[in-house]
Amino acid sequence: MSGGTEWWRHAVIYEIYVRSFQDSNGDGIGDLKGITQRLDHLQQLGVDALWLTPFFPSPNADFGYDVSDYCDVAPEYGTLADWDELVAEAGRRGMRLLVDFVMNHSSDQHAWFRAARSSREHPMRDWYVWRDGQPDGRPPTNWDSIFGGPAWTYDAPTGQWYYHAFLPEQPDINWHHPALREAMYDVARFWLGRGAAGFRLDATAHLFEDPAWPHDPDPAGGAGVGQKAYNANRPENHAVLRELRQLTDGYDGARVLLGESTIDHLPGLLQAYGAAGDEMQLPMNFMLGRLTQLDAARLKHHLDAAHHEIAGRGHTPVFFFGNHDQHRPWSRFGAAARDDAERDAIARLTSALLLTQPGTVLLYYGEEIGLADLPDSELAAAPLGPQRPRADDRDRCRTPMPWSAGPGAGFSSGTPWLPAGKRAATRHVEQQEAETGSLLHWTRRLLALRRSHPVLRAGRYLPLSSSHPSVLAYAVALPDGQAVLVALNCSAAAVSTRLDGAVALPGCDALLLASDDTVGLLTSAGLKLGAWGVLVASLRQR
Ligand code: GLC
Ligand code: CA
Repeated sequence: MSGGTEWWRHAVIYEIYVRSFQDSNGDGIGDLKGITQRLDHLQQLGVDALWLTPFFPSPNADFGYDVSDYCDVAPEYGTLADWDELVAEAGRRGMRLLVDFVMNHSSDQHAWFRAARSSREHPMRDWYVWRDGQPDGRPPTNWDSIFGGPAWTYDAPTGQWYYHAFLPEQPDINWHHPALREAMYDVARFWLGRGAAGFRLDATAHLFEDPAWPHDPDPAGGAGVGQKAYNANRPENHAVLRELRQLTDGYDGARVLLGESTIDHLPGLLQAYGAAGDEMQLPMNFMLGRLTQLDAARLKHHLDAAHHEIAGRGHTPVFFFGNHDQHRPWSRFGAAARDDAERDAIARLTSALLLTQPGTVLLYYGEEIGLADLPDSELAAAPLGPQRPRADDRDRCRTPMPWSAGPGAGFSSGTPWLPAGKRAATRHVEQQEAETGSLLHWTRRLLALRRSHPVLRAGRYLPLSSSHPSVLAYAVALPDGQAVLVALNCSAAAVSTRLDGAVALPGCDALLLASDDTVGLLTSAGLKLGAWGVLVASLRQR
C-alpha cells in the first residue's frame, strides 16, 4: 500500500460511479467485477484509493443512496465475494477502497423502516423520526426537502408523519436512538472488517434536526433548503462523528473518514474536522468544489484560505471539482469556450490546479479524459426502463465510462443503462491512450509528478501575487529546500505577468510541465503564459 501511515493526507482518491464504470456481464449495468477488470487503468493513472458509490441492495429511488440492506451487495453489482476480490486485487496494486456510508437515511424498504412503520409500539419505531401533524392536519413543520416538496410524509396506518431530508423513499434515521446508533456502527464494523480503508460519509450535514422543530418563515430562502440552522450541521452531529472516528481508529492501517460536508463557510468546514481534530480527517471543500467559473481571484481566495486556515492548523484540505451530483468540470468551466480544443486546454489547467495542491485531491471517473456532461437533448432522449427506472438530471454526469469506440463504448457488451453519448464515439480511453498530447497523458504526467516530487503533495503552500489579474500563481515548498512554482493563466488571451509573494522567487531551473510552447520560463523580466497556459517548474535554490 502506498504511503504507510496517514496515507490519506496526500492522497488522490478516485470516485467511481459503480453503475457506470464497467459492466462485466453484459446486462448494461456497471458492477464490482467490472471495476476489478479495470484496475490496471487506475494503477497506471496512479491514484491511491477508490471511493465507490453505493453498491448495496436498493430499490434505486436515488440510485443506491436509498439503502435497503447496508451489509450486502446488490445482485446487479455482484456479490460479497466480488467485493473481497476487488479489495484484494486493488491492494495488490497499491490502492485502497472507500465505501459510501449513507448515514442520514435508509430506504423506506429497509427492514428497519418496515418494522418502524408497522406500529407505533414497535421497538424500532423510534429508529426513524416520527412526529404528529399540526392540529389542522398539516405536517409537523413547514420544512422543505432538499429534493423538493415537503420534508414530511404521512403514514396513514399509524397516523404520524416521518421526516426525510431527501426523497420520501429516504426516511431519515434517528441518531438519538442508542440501539440505532449501535446498529449503524455495526455496519461500519462490517465493512472495515471486510477490508474497507474507510468511508465516504454521505450527507453528514443532516444527521440531526433542531429538537424545537421551529416554524420557518421562509422555507426556500436564506442559504437554501439544505443549509438551514434547523436541518444542517447541528451541534449534535459532532458526537456521532467523534464516535465513528474512534471506531475507525480502532482498526489498523490508517482508516479514514471522507465527508460530504456541504458547508458554505470556512469556520463551519473547520468544525467538521472536530475541535480536537477528532472527527472526519477529510471533509470536502465545497466552496472550491462548486465554483463554476475560473476566476483567478476567487480561486486564489479559496486556495489561500484552505491552506492557511485548514492546513495551517495541521488538518488536511480536500480539493475537488467533480462528483456524481454536479456538472462535470470539463463542461462547467468550458461552458463559454469556443470549441472542444479550448475546453481541453481549460481541463489541463483545472487538473494541474488540483493535482499540484498539497493535501488530498478527489478525481471523478472520466475526468482523466475530459469526460463531458451528456448534452441536455441526449439526456432528454435517454430511455427509461427497468435499468433506469427514473430520470434524474444528475444522470448527465453519470454516463458510462467510454473505454473504446463501438456501441457499448467498451463499457458493456449489452445496452448501457444510460447512453454513453454521441461524443463517446470519438473521445474515449483507447483514443487518448494513442495520442501523447491527450488529456489522459497529461493527467498521468501530473500524477506521476505528484509521486516523484513529494513537495507537490506534502509541501507548504505559499501564495503569490501576480501583476496580471488572470494569472493564479502559488509555490509549494518543503523545509529541505525543494520548491515548485505553479502559474495558471485563467483566460483565453496570452499574458505576461510578474509574480511576487511570500517567497523571494529565485528563478526556475527546470520546467516540469507546461501546457504548450508559448509558456515562458520565469525570468527577472517576468513570465509569459499562452491562453489557459499552465506552468509547473521547480525553483532554483539560492
Ligand atoms: C448525497 C449524494 C447524493 C444523494 C444524496 C442523498 O448528496 O451525493 O447523490 O442523492 O446524498 O443520499
Ligand atoms: Ca453488470
